[in-house]
Amino acid sequence: MSDAPQDDLPERASYRSILESGPQDYVIQGRYLKQHHAGIADLYLGFLKSLESPHLGFPVDRFEHSLQTATRALRDGRDDEYVFVALFHDVGDALAPANHPEAGAALLRPYIGDDMYWLVRNHGVFQGYYYYHFLGRDRDLRERYRGHPMFEKTAEFCEKYDQAAFDKDYESAPLSAFEPLVRRILSQPPRFVFE
Ligand SMILES: [Fe+2]
Ligand SMILES: [Fe+2]
Repeated sequence: MSDAPQDDLPERASYRSILESGPQDYVIQGRYLKQHHAGIADLYLGFLKSLESPHLGFPVDRFEHSLQTATRALRDGRDDEYVFVALFHDVGDALAPANHPEAGAALLRPYIGDDMYWLVRNHGVFQGYYYYHFLGRDRDLRERYRGHPMFEKTAEFCEKYDQAAFDKDYESAPLSAFEPLVRRILSQPPRFVFE
């Protein structure tokens, strides 16, 4: 939250330690949080756009890969939540290339169901089926999840959309085509995760 004055929210909590705080402070902070949340879609879209650079040597940059994954899912008749997940499945890569599925899944979790959370959280290992062997790794690592209710759906996501979305000649839909569904999903009250 910026320090700029906000006429409609002039108050600030005044405690110096949480031990000193009281319920009224959380009312004040809650009002700011609500205002902050109203702009969350722009933050997420900004993270997504940041995947444009660097291209890291991939045939298409990671933003185009995201658009292409989502476009393929959209054109295949997938529902809004699925397309949203396809669009943002690599968003964790903007800040956390070493564990991007875990980071991205955490970012999306408050807005998606547990099944799609599982898919994003584990898509890296399933995607590995297509290239881990080129790196001397076990391409069948995904087998550790065989029998999980989301195994087939996650394998299908990677086969049909994710691993296929590096085609520089594919005509992806522009980001603007996805914005209404992104804003709709991210305007839901977030599901808080305390664990
Ligand atoms: Fe990924
Ligand atoms: Fe991907």
